[in-house]
Amino acid sequence: MTLPKHIAIIMDGNGRWAERRGRPRAIGHRAGAKAVETTVAFCRRNGIEALTLFAFSSENWGRPQDEVGALMKLFLGVLDKEVAKMHQHGVRLRFIGDRARFAREIRERMEKAEALTAGNDRLHLNIAASYGGRQDIAFATRALAEDVAAGKLKPQDIDEDLVAQRMALADVPAPDLFIRTGGDHRVSNFLLWQLAYTELWFTDVLWPDFDEKVLQRAIDDFAGRERRFGLTAAQLKEQPAA
Ligand code: FPP
Repeated sequence: MTLPKHIAIIMDGNGRWAERRGRPRAIGHRAGAKAVETTVAFCRRNGIEALTLFAFSSENWGRPQDEVGALMKLFLGVLDKEVAKMHQHGVRLRFIGDRARFAREIRERMEKAEALTAGNDRLHLNIAASYGGRQDIAFATRALAEDVAAGKLKPQDIDEDLVAQRMALADVPAPDLFIRTGGDHRVSNFLLWQLAYTELWFTDVLWPDFDEKVLQRAIDDFAGRERRFGLTAAQLKEQPAA
């Protein structure tokens, strides 16, 4: 069976999960953190090489202050409780996004977690926090423009590879499988550049209810897809298997 090497997930539906139970939205986010644990463990045990989770978008800063506060508290708690366990399990942790917007205590814990786990290779876990796909492209563009201004790069030398090298996740192969829970069928400014040839899979399941069975369904569906990368099916048959 063809296994995706890299899975990217929009974890949507925490708020609705809580509201359906008459509970505050923050309770949904807490239940969502449990589903994160389950998902990371599944990927680690089943040979998935990279997992990228959309935890907080650059637009989520605009949510009501109490919800943003509850999410920040949850992130801090998870960073304090889970990082040592992840390190023991060989997980390399990275954060992508505009971390300058987070409070110092969160930024410091992110840096510590990255430094502690930098040498691990069992699963590359990337957490997108204060992340936006357009922002990612804008930051890459700015970095290239700075190199041009400094005389280190000629505009005519800028190509797709050079842009890709300046994007988040530059050292990880692009996601093979994108999953979105919560019933909406959109990409919502997640990894816009990196998802160009990713297989998309959507489910109505709300993120706190996401478990191994749902993930396995997505992986099974992925295995049956024909990825052509712009070529014809006949051309693919002529190519030696990768
Ligand atoms: C989207 O659901 C979810 C979020 C904005 C937060 C995601 C955070 C977690 C799963 C918690 C822990 C994460 C990590 C990485 C430790 P929503 O609130 O938009 O749900 P709704 O569409 O039902 O309102």
